Amino acid sequence: MLVRGGATCHDRPVDELRTSPRLEAIPRYEPGPTTAQVLAEFGLDEAVRLASNESPYSPLAEVEAVVSAGIGGLNRYPDGAARSLIEVLADRHGVDAEQIIVGNGSGELILLAGQALLDPGTSIIHAEPSFALYPQLAAAAGARDVAVPLAADGGHDLATMAAHVDETTRLVVICNPNNPTGVYRSAEAIEALLDDLPGDLAVLVDEAYNDFVTAPDSGRLMSLARERGNLLVTRTFSKAHGLCGLRVGYGVGGPGWTAALQRVRPPFNTNALGQAAARESLCHPAALAERVATTIAERERVAAALSSTGMPFTPSQGNFMLLTPGADPGLGQRIHRRMLERGIILRDGTSLGCPGSLRVTVGTPAENDRLLDELADVFAAETAATPGVERTAS
Ligand SMILES: Cc1ncc(COP(=O)(O)O)c(C=O)c1O
Repeated sequence: MLVRGGATCHDRPVDELRTSPRLEAIPRYEPGPTTAQVLAEFGLDEAVRLASNESPYSPLAEVEAVVSAGIGGLNRYPDGAARSLIEVLADRHGVDAEQIIVGNGSGELILLAGQALLDPGTSIIHAEPSFALYPQLAAAAGARDVAVPLAADGGHDLATMAAHVDETTRLVVICNPNNPTGVYRSAEAIEALLDDLPGDLAVLVDEAYNDFVTAPDSGRLMSLARERGNLLVTRTFSKAHGLCGLRVGYGVGGPGWTAALQRVRPPFNTNALGQAAARESLCHPAALAERVATTIAERERVAAALSSTGMPFTPSQGNFMLLTPGADPGLGQRIHRRMLERGIILRDGTSLGCPGSLRVTVGTPAENDRLLDELADVFAAETAATPGVERTAS
């Protein structure tokens, strides 16, 4: 067992208090072990973390300078409306400030959507496996969760999702590219789905990984969010901008969408350093594009190397990849463990709803070299030790 840092609130029975019976139904979000836990468990001095789809690069130097400069003002509350960040975002996306909402990570906005839209007797439709937060929305609101299995290619089955819409549906969530598979659905396909749905049904397109998409129609959904009142597109500073530690995300959508979310948004939900850092990071698009280009090039290099070792994986448009070493779920778990022993922290796909798989975040070139070396070694040893496992190029 991995070392755990003591009991968490989740480990205590909730019936010690007069709590809502809904609490028991809320799935736990399992973030996976921290680097410190892995070092302690395996007696390691260092480890490569490729488990949480983070940027391997620290924030841009100009962003770090703004954060340092802001520390002296932390005795004051931040701008509760995040006006200056919203101003830059509105300019960038060509929308009115009222069409933008800023959250404590885009994850907060997704949770707020559940609070604003769902009640007992209503329902939400999302894909499965997809981002682990979505099932929490229904459970927290006492609504019905409609989880539609992914299509065989690992992308959303949009037609089946549309077929599940009924008079109880209040929210449809699309994760594009999908986490954990990395599969992207075209703007045309999503637009066709929007055309099929009632115009007053809220649709949230979660574009947390949009910066890494190379498909030519990338960004089209954001333009649609200017025109379609029922569409909200969420983005985050946590991935390409490398600011997940400061927790800033945003949504662009119809005025009805942002007004609904503003009703449930806690005051001062984003902090002063996060707002300043996000604003500054938007001022350096060329430096950011260079980093993103490196990550995309590395994603393709890692994909080519995996193919040559015979490790099956799903081609991805994100900064991560889902590896499916074999049909036996035990094989993926063993590889995960062997990699941890060697100081390479990957995400065990079982906890993401993909038993037997491993999710790998694209790191720096040096981290990826190490990943590929160790993985080839571990995969060869484990498949040799597992009769009946075929190694085929994908
Ligand atoms: C698909 C998806 N959406 C949203 C998020 C939330 O990101 P944040 O709250 O850091 O903006 C994540 C985080 O990993 C994600 O994978």
